[in-house]
Amino acid sequence: MSSGSLSEEKSWKLSDLNYSVPEHAGRFGYTIGGIVVVGFALLILTGIIMVFFYVPSVDDARSSVLKLSSAPLGLWVRSFHRWTAEAVTFLVILHLSRVIFTGSYRGSRKLNWIFGVVLLFVTVGFFFTGTVLKWDQEGFEAYEHVVETTKVIPVIGALTASFLEGILAVMRILATHVLVLPVLLGVLLLPHLALMKLNGLSPLPGSSSSRTSTFFAHMKKVLWFSMIIYGAVAFLAAQFPSVLFPGPYTGVELTKPPWLFLVLYALEDWIGLYALLTAPLIMLVGLLVIPYVDRSQSMNSTTRKVIVWGYISVAAVMMFLIIYVGFSPPVTHLSMG
Ligand code: HEM
Repeated sequence: MSSGSLSEEKSWKLSDLNYSVPEHAGRFGYTIGGIVVVGFALLILTGIIMVFFYVPSVDDARSSVLKLSSAPLGLWVRSFHRWTAEAVTFLVILHLSRVIFTGSYRGSRKLNWIFGVVLLFVTVGFFFTGTVLKWDQEGFEAYEHVVETTKVIPVIGALTASFLEGILAVMRILATHVLVLPVLLGVLLLPHLALMKLNGLSPLPGSSSSRTSTFFAHMKKVLWFSMIIYGAVAFLAAQFPSVLFPGPYTGVELTKPPWLFLVLYALEDWIGLYALLTAPLIMLVGLLVIPYVDRSQSMNSTTRKVIVWGYISVAAVMMFLIIYVGFSPPVTHLSMG
């Protein structure tokens, strides 16, 4: 390498990161993704603390969670982890909704939408495996539902179910929660953010403003909103600590799954176990095809209206099912087959 190039080499400064972004990047709707990133950082932090007290065995998992919860700070850390998981999951759905309403899935942002859809399922995977790890009646019943559902999958069902069952069951759920899913999250989030930078933030619908702001100002808003949201979560964790159900008892169904899975629970009432397999698949395909159905550039095209009203109707039905099942008594499913 010639000596001349050394003096010409650009020295990077922090201010180089302070690139220009559209002014609307400071609006709440355009900071949600960033607030989710902060939430995942808090989940990793509190998760690392808890893993030092957790015993990943079918015999001792619940009692280790109980022991952690008997220490006041331990109960708060566990509850903060749970409430943050609830908040992050809700925020990811809000972020997806923002992207739908601003039409930010089209054109060059198609690929980012696809990464996003997979990130949504990774987020749901975190919530599910986290619920199971308590290994109380609620966690155990959620786990049993998935094992029974796996068994109906042709060819690989029995093998997958046998991998999920047995004395290593909790160990394997823990490995999924603290290794597999975090790696997937990292592997998907990096390109998601890189594509975000490459494409730039989508324009604000209905606005022709060319006013700009800076990335640091956007990040300041992300941190402000995060402090308010996760500050409220910290308060909720102190006031409404996480519950640990008794159990696990086999052959009975005494609990209902967390709100996120109540739609599946309702569908399982009507269709049976296959609903737990088909409904997520239909949701995945339905979300993935959106940018291919709506290829128009206009915000007022018929396809766009179909997408937006279709999304609102599905969301309304899902909210109705969550409330309806939320107020209904638990139902026995697994003997239904
Ligand atoms: C772990 C979950 C996720 C994280 C951490 C995340 C993070 C981000 C961040 C930081 C941005 C920048 C702008 C903003 O904050 O709104 C963004 C943009 C974007 N996200 Fe996500 N996201 C996640 C899930 C999703 C999901 C579920 C979808 C859709 C299915 C999605 C689709 C998009 C799209 C299309 C953009 C570009 C938006 C624009 O240009 O206006 N993301 N994401």
